[in-house]
Amino acid sequence: MSTLDIETATVAFGRNRDAVTAVDDVSLSVPSGTVLGLVGESGSGKSTLARAVAGLQPLTGGRILVDGIDIRDRAHRHGRKVQMVFQDPYTSLNPRMNVGASLAEVVRANGSAGPAGVDHAVAALLDNVRLSTATAAKYPGQLSGGMRQRVAVARALAARPRILIADEITSALDASVQSAVLNLVRDIHRELGLTILFISHNLAVVRYLADATAVMYRGRIVEQGPSHDVITAPRHDYTRRLIGSLPTPGEFGDPSRSPVTHPGP
Ligand SMILES: Nc1ncnc2c1ncn2[C@@H]1O[C@H](COP(=O)(O)OP(=O)(O)OP(=O)(O)O)[C@@H](O)[C@H]1O
Ligand SMILES: [Mg+2]
Repeated sequence: MSTLDIETATVAFGRNRDAVTAVDDVSLSVPSGTVLGLVGESGSGKSTLARAVAGLQPLTGGRILVDGIDIRDRAHRHGRKVQMVFQDPYTSLNPRMNVGASLAEVVRANGSAGPAGVDHAVAALLDNVRLSTATAAKYPGQLSGGMRQRVAVARALAARPRILIADEITSALDASVQSAVLNLVRDIHRELGLTILFISHNLAVVRYLADATAVMYRGRIVEQGPSHDVITAPRHDYTRRLIGSLPTPGEFGDPSRSPVTHPGP
């Protein structure tokens, strides 16, 4: 798939005294086909960084490369290579469009299927996110939160991205649904081999999915490495505090079990 490199990225809002450096000199590398988990408390800059990677937020400094090419390089038409799924699926789905039409819109815009192939592509996308073909006729308001989030994931996949950013995609869901959506992300990663930036304030969730974990604190990456190392030998005080709030291994430690049986802190 694609490698993502974030090089000394900085995003500042406002000017002078009111300036907030939301992302402060961040460098991260996500090798092709791997999952990087990004954790950090509220306001640490995770979403701002994610939006920058998705091309939705200009950088004040530094650069972001996909397969070695700056995302600002228009000649390469990065556009749809990076897709983002947000916490609240309501913001990404048009309530007046049924699921089938909403997916077909992206399939057509992407030119990835001929006229005869659109229905087929929509059915395949629904299958990717484990929704029945009957879901195509439903409107977002008729779906549960978990199903809506599956549709949002399908819509991102419809653009055939190489890099998927998931920004707190389970945070607004009931605990019982969270693990199903996490398992879906894991399955999609296995099936499609996407490079994934998975953002959560919940280290337990990140541990479940991510090959590597980065910890963000006040705009900076204070720790990064293989998830196992970060969790078993944290170097930063903030990471230790995050680990302190993890459920005990007996409750949670078996990776074959679902990661979220209780709501996170
Ligand atoms: N458009 C904006 N204008 C001004 N400040 C902003 C803007 N967007 C974010 N910020 C500020 O940047 C900082 C980082 O915000 P961000 O949303 O990236 O954090 P986060 O880690 O995603 O938090 P959360 O876990 O609550 O989602 C915060 O101080 C926030 O107030
Ligand atoms: Mg956020």
